Amino acid sequence: MSQEHYTSTLTQQAGTYLPPLHGKASAWVCGNEEAEAIYMQALEKPEEFWEGRASQLLHWFKRWDKVLEADEERHKYRWFTGGKLNASFNCIDRHILIGRRNKAALIWQGEREMDVRCYTYQMLYTEVCRVAHALSSLRVRKGDRVALYMPMIPELVIAMLACARIGAIHTAIFSGYAEGGVRSRIQGAKAKIVITADAAVRAGKFKPLKANLDPILEKCPSVAHVVVVNHAELFDVKMMPNRDIWWHDLIEDFTLDVDFPCERMNSTDPLFLLHTSGSTGKPTGVLHSTGGYLTYAAHTTQWIFDMHDDDVHWCTADIGWITGHTYGVYGPLALGATVLMFEGVPTWPKPDRYWRIVEKFRVNILYTAPTVIRSLMRMGEAWAERYDLGTLRILGSVGEPISPEVWQWFYKNIGNSELPIVDTWWQTETGGAMIAPLPYATKLKPGSATKPLPGIDAAIMRDDSTPDLDGSADRRSGHLVIRKPWPGIMLGVYNDEEKYQSYFSRFGCYESGDGAEVDEDGYYWILGRIDDSINVSGHRLSTAEIEAVLVSCPEIAEAAVVPMPHALKGEAIYAYVVTRDEVAWSDTLRKKLLDTVRRDIGALASPEYIQFAEALPKTHSGKVIRRLLRKIAGGSSLEELGELTTVAHPEVIKPIIYGHQNILLGQHETASMEAEAAADGRG
Ligand code: WT7
Repeated sequence: MSQEHYTSTLTQQAGTYLPPLHGKASAWVCGNEEAEAIYMQALEKPEEFWEGRASQLLHWFKRWDKVLEADEERHKYRWFTGGKLNASFNCIDRHILIGRRNKAALIWQGEREMDVRCYTYQMLYTEVCRVAHALSSLRVRKGDRVALYMPMIPELVIAMLACARIGAIHTAIFSGYAEGGVRSRIQGAKAKIVITADAAVRAGKFKPLKANLDPILEKCPSVAHVVVVNHAELFDVKMMPNRDIWWHDLIEDFTLDVDFPCERMNSTDPLFLLHTSGSTGKPTGVLHSTGGYLTYAAHTTQWIFDMHDDDVHWCTADIGWITGHTYGVYGPLALGATVLMFEGVPTWPKPDRYWRIVEKFRVNILYTAPTVIRSLMRMGEAWAERYDLGTLRILGSVGEPISPEVWQWFYKNIGNSELPIVDTWWQTETGGAMIAPLPYATKLKPGSATKPLPGIDAAIMRDDSTPDLDGSADRRSGHLVIRKPWPGIMLGVYNDEEKYQSYFSRFGCYESGDGAEVDEDGYYWILGRIDDSINVSGHRLSTAEIEAVLVSCPEIAEAAVVPMPHALKGEAIYAYVVTRDEVAWSDTLRKKLLDTVRRDIGALASPEYIQFAEALPKTHSGKVIRRLLRKIAGGSSLEELGELTTVAHPEVIKPIIYGHQNILLGQHETASMEAEAAADGRG
């Protein structure tokens, strides 16, 4: 077997599921025949295809002169040049003009059950105009950066759309970030204004935001004002005179003369700046355009979720991530849908919170992440059983590979074995989903994101930069790249041209950094980040594949595998596993896991060491940070791990290091020892 190929067994798992077509004639894309015709059309005449979508889905103040201006040498792709539009107009005003004035645009469920707010399109318009006026009174102008360090509250959506109305560039900073992450983003963006809240409410506790921000701002000279939402009603918020203003005081003057005319933005003007979640290292500041991005957001939202007028759409991702931007705000609102927004977490006060919300608001589309599904799976299906989930029509997954086992759990327990699951592969840089099924057209295979969407030219490259071409083999594996531009592609990396160019330097087209395998049906199986892959005796093994096998054992809730240096093999495999609740850690279980990997993949893939852990280090968006686990497996101490600002619960790291040391000493840890260490780490 050659080195550039992954050895993968993922594709051999489980069966296939046909799309549920009965009664679905109203679907945007219905049945395979219609889908095939669309794929062909997009392939043959891509510009006509994208231009068609841009004019069907958005309102343009002025039509574009050119669909695409491509500078192939510098890899700059500018969509709908000469076109004028405004994202806020498209997400609000337009719907009011066509009779959706009294339709719910945004339903908000607070952390506390009785905290519910609902904004119709008309109400959203009023609030957005008031905030646009208010920001404008603070001298926010087109092109200025406004940082949003806010919890999941309606004011966050309102602030985004107010910025878009003015033409200011919003940059959302996840509210769970501590100091370093926040400071570097505000400084990097040279933000003029920061909008925040007194505190976020998470799992029954207040997490101060404004107080956290104050010391950070001492080193952010660009910030002229801080606008503070009084969300948690904390009484001891310190406000700095002339700098800090309460949100409610600021907008108070703007009630009567509400209309705030939309800035006529160029299609190629930036809409927002957003940093990647940092699972692979330093976060990258990605800049997205107005026309191309919004077209791609609306287009993918409509087709992937088959979104219709009376749907209640719930994207569970925090708006601090691209998923929240595209599928929690811009995509669905551009289509005039109803968005559900939830402030809390899935397990608080009990692990039934998501299902309560689905039942309470009759949710139709539920888009979530494997990390959430795994955590709910770990606690057992009984939590979902007592709720009526009958309104759900489509389930979605994003962020990490969803292993066939987890897919099946979601399908059976939440989807009642009848709903399509749209597993959507994409990245902050791509603006919207790239590889995903069309729910009423694409046959599903658990664990595969299926096929590139119409107009998306994905391919697999070998290490030597030659394409692993269609037809050259039944199965192809290697680097996942995109060969042709699409409207959602990032405008650039903020103030870092070199980083932008690095996406194109290796293959001459967009390099995702992920590994993938394509099966004989042209289905894509995402194998994880290429940087994370493991090379055992010259064979490249994918993290996703080995982890999927470990998680297929009913005792295991989560797994992460990383390479560790090995004198003979080059690299050996080190596995961290988290057991489901009430499963004891034992050598018998270790042996079972080893046997399973040996049986399902082969001896080559069987881990040298298996370490039980209480929890794995993850980004705030829920991705396992294998980079840290690799360092620990290689013997690094806590001090040698470096930057930890992107780690959501850094206290999980210490017990993992402790467990690793025991493994090397040949002492087999017990759950209680780890628990002690965990308590240590938190103390
Ligand atoms: C990376 C991008 C896209 C929004 C969320 C994260 C991984 C994402 C999938 C999926 C397998 C996935 C990839 C990608 N990823 N979706 N459906 N199957 N892997 O955005 O922080 O920019 O991360 O997330 O590795 O490169 P992001």
